[in-house]
Amino acid sequence: MKLYKLLFNYINEKRTLVFLFFIVTILDSILALLTVLALAPVVEFMTSDIISMQTGSLKYYFDFIGYIGIEYSLISSLLIFLGITILSSISNIGLFFISRINAYSITYQLTSWAIYQFYSQGLSYVNSQSFGVLQNTFSKEITKVTDAIFSVLQLLSVLIFSLSMLSFSMTLSLRMSLIIIGSFFIISFLISILGKKISYLSSLTLNSSNILSEKLYMPLINAKNILAFGRTKWASRVYEKAFNTHFIDALKSQSLAFFVPELFKTLSVLTAVMALFYSLSEGESITLLIVTLAVFIRLLPKIANITEAYSMIKDAAPSIIQYSRLFPQDVSKTITKKRKIDGFSTSLSLKNVSFSFDTRKGVIKNLNIEINKNSFVSFVGSSGSGKTTCADLLMGLYSPSNGAVMIDGFPLNEIDLDSYLDRVGYVQQDSILLDASIRDNLLWSNPLATENDMWEALKLVSIDSFVKSLPNQLDNLVGDRGVSISGGQKQRVALALALIRNPDILILDEATSSLDYESEKIIRKSLESLSHKLTIISVTHRPSMAEHSDMIYVFDKGSIVEFGTYKELMKNNSTFFNKMGGDSK
Ligand SMILES: Nc1ncnc2c1ncn2[C@@H]1O[C@H](COP(=O)(O)OP(=O)(O)O)[C@@H](O)[C@H]1O
Ligand SMILES: [Mg+2]
Repeated sequence: MKLYKLLFNYINEKRTLVFLFFIVTILDSILALLTVLALAPVVEFMTSDIISMQTGSLKYYFDFIGYIGIEYSLISSLLIFLGITILSSISNIGLFFISRINAYSITYQLTSWAIYQFYSQGLSYVNSQSFGVLQNTFSKEITKVTDAIFSVLQLLSVLIFSLSMLSFSMTLSLRMSLIIIGSFFIISFLISILGKKISYLSSLTLNSSNILSEKLYMPLINAKNILAFGRTKWASRVYEKAFNTHFIDALKSQSLAFFVPELFKTLSVLTAVMALFYSLSEGESITLLIVTLAVFIRLLPKIANITEAYSMIKDAAPSIIQYSRLFPQDVSKTITKKRKIDGFSTSLSLKNVSFSFDTRKGVIKNLNIEINKNSFVSFVGSSGSGKTTCADLLMGLYSPSNGAVMIDGFPLNEIDLDSYLDRVGYVQQDSILLDASIRDNLLWSNPLATENDMWEALKLVSIDSFVKSLPNQLDNLVGDRGVSISGGQKQRVALALALIRNPDILILDEATSSLDYESEKIIRKSLESLSHKLTIISVTHRPSMAEHSDMIYVFDKGSIVEFGTYKELMKNNSTFFNKMGGDSK
């Protein structure tokens, strides 16, 4: 990903904002010019120097003042100068305002685009990314990319401003202007050499910032373990160590980035003063020289902006690379109109499906499964046998390496996945609820759910009376990451979340595995009452959970080794299933 491409995307999206930015820039340049012009008569009255009135653009200014009939006096000149200075300040504030709006909307655009693209990369990619790095990219690196994109806009704006000011100053004192411009170029060239060093230091800073973020957030995600293992001190020490490395890198690169514009300002003032002395000694008009100096004093902060913007653009190179790593593939290009579906009518099947992870081959080997509408199917097998992967394939979270997942005979990869997943309810082993009320959790799953639907869903999983007993009922918070209700209650709420979508397909991946016997029994009863009203796929390592299913597929090492009903599989003593049942009871 290149900076200019990101810039063009932005300009394309926000034409009005960018247009306004340049309009205000032009207005600001005109007013800055006028302030300097208005200074000339003031200086003239003070030095009684009359030559300037006949020179270059000043002549037009004096003609204009005379034309509109303003009396030419010190007081009127001072008042005009004051008035224009105030207008110029106002336009400066306007420029700042429109600049901030542009900067924020760049951040917004980069972030929302990245969120969408990141999720669209699919589960394999999302799972393979470090949370700490993601956190750092979204919070810090995107800001740096924003700064770089905005810096390019700012460079253009400064260019407009500088060119208009410079062409004006050349009409006053060509000699002094040329000396100053020449030295600006030389100083800028010298400073650009420092740019490489800045780039290098920023990439060090970025790396240590990624590590820092990881050291901070990984323990936080796992806070209970930190407490249970008594590793509180460890967590802070680990952070401290990473912080020190980051601190040194950041200090170096930020100091250099700050030093560069400062150096520029100092050197520029030095050359401007020298040019002034030289021109004076050559006998030029004092008024013209003072006005020229005023031009450069106005220009200086702007030109310092150039070097600052240049540092920011250099600084952002590693951040842009990290930003584009959020989405190695631009999904917007690959999206083709796919068929939307509204449920299915006959069956869901896997045809000769094989699947490998990048880091692990042969996780699923040539599976053939047929799941009829409204049947209750169980996947049983020991841990690591491929059940979860198979369920994830059925949800389209992974694409098969070989073969196809079919819905009513159509391959899943030809179907609009969101429309399919709208018809699926899913519960995993340790569900994470939103840190919000029960109502908000239910609405997250189905934004159209009514109060009635909510109670109905909660009733299906026998948790309605518990919710009624809470002080705020549906509006009771479930607590951060669901910690303030018990595991069994949380799983039941998670199941209610799946059911409130009125799914055609319910996929339960070890939904009851971490629950006590009582809670498991309640959920099992709910499932039995739902059985044959919708299609249920239940993944479990406990054969007892599969008792009422129409068909049981027994998994081992990525293959199906047996299938049949509970009775059929239990009949034969030598089946895998029978052995597993014996072990777990
Ligand atoms: N994201 C992943 N990357 C690499 N290997 C994985 C990944 N997820 C699962 N596996 C491996 O795939 C195999 C099947 O895993 P899984 O489907 O979770 O089994 P089960 O649900 O039956 O316990 C296991 O050997 C597991 O280590
Ligand atoms: Mg599993």
